[in-house]
Amino acid sequence: MKKIDVAVLGLGGMGGTHVGAAKASKYVKNIYGYEPDAGRAALRGKELGVKATSDLDSILNNPEIKLIYIAAINPVHAELTIKSLRAGKAVMCEKPMAENLKDAKEMIKVQKETGNFLQIGFELHYSKIYMTAKEWIDKGLIGKVVNSHCRYYCSEFHSRNTWRSNSKGTLIGEKLSHYIDLQRWFTGSQVKEVFSMTAPNVVDYFNHPDNHQISMRFKNGAISNLNFCMYLGESDHRDPLLEMLEKQSDDGHFLQYHIFGTKGAIETDVFRRRIRRWEFTDGPEHLVSKIVDKVTYTKSEDNDWIHNTHGQNVRIAELVAKGLPPENPATDSFETMRAGFAAEISEREQRIVKLSELK
Ligand SMILES: NC(=O)c1ccc[n+]([C@@H]2O[C@H](COP(=O)([O-])OP(=O)(O)OC[C@H]3O[C@@H](n4cnc5c(N)ncnc54)[C@H](O)[C@@H]3O)[C@@H](O)[C@H]2O)c1
Repeated sequence: MKKIDVAVLGLGGMGGTHVGAAKASKYVKNIYGYEPDAGRAALRGKELGVKATSDLDSILNNPEIKLIYIAAINPVHAELTIKSLRAGKAVMCEKPMAENLKDAKEMIKVQKETGNFLQIGFELHYSKIYMTAKEWIDKGLIGKVVNSHCRYYCSEFHSRNTWRSNSKGTLIGEKLSHYIDLQRWFTGSQVKEVFSMTAPNVVDYFNHPDNHQISMRFKNGAISNLNFCMYLGESDHRDPLLEMLEKQSDDGHFLQYHIFGTKGAIETDVFRRRIRRWEFTDGPEHLVSKIVDKVTYTKSEDNDWIHNTHGQNVRIAELVAKGLPPENPATDSFETMRAGFAAEISEREQRIVKLSELK
């Protein structure tokens, strides 16, 4: 079995998760870390138990390092991805792919030029709640998907004066790209046009909107809607998706999908730890709707079911060690980014934006 060395660029919270996945992979030999500040590199390297450096070139020029995980702040994703691809590395880059269309396009261009592995961190494709929904859709259990609604209300856990709250980049890239990506995945069609609105902020210290209402129309006629606000759930001061408290199931936190098909519907409900399916049949007087499937899981299974970054990254190390291509190609993630950038334009210019405008 071939083992590879890997590096993690950016050793913050998510960098720690990536190091944990690399440690859990039987395909990984040595793990290196990078932080631009030497003091922070030494500190985080010690805390995470990896060889950390502030010299990026020492990582890029190390021929044993085959795979680079990028978990740095969003503005440097494109630059680090491009440098790593050009240095001959396979790359797994966290979402958002980039903060603007130009950078995202450049990442795809360099991936195509180099032919190297590039996968974006849309780990919900590896999370059982959404994999189950996709499996039911692919089996035809709800017929053709015609509409989907995502309702995501959480608490404010980004905090004053952090890179997230200070960023001018919207939460469409930082958070909602995951959920736009799922609406594309479930619908199985290209996005044709986007209309998005945002209401005045409640969180006055964010440099970007704290709420978004994004509607998309797909080429096959299906539509979708995503409603997000970052303040309703009772405060917990931590990422509510990582700290699943029983009380959050009824204190204003919602992360639900309703996926409507011609023969039935699916509901995914993160804060209630369940996925359900409805079946529609012809009754003598009216359409009959019945709940026919319900799967629940326990708190100890949250990671596998909700945000399986760990499982995704363990799998990516295996793919790279075996010389296999990405399971979720970056070109597909680019389409999600394009829809997100279209939503940003729509909010600024207060109009419907056709995806064909974003060349
Ligand atoms: N997929 C997910 O669900 C998910 C969840 C959380 C975070 N993320 C993403 O992971 C990334 C990191 O988020 P986080 O929560 O770990 O933030 P964080 O603030 O905890 O860590 C960011 C790290 O990047 C480092 N950094 C700053 N400039 C850098 C540079 N030029 N090169 C390398 N490192 C640099 C910082 O020093 C810090 O250690 C973000 O892009 C975020 O969107 C994804």
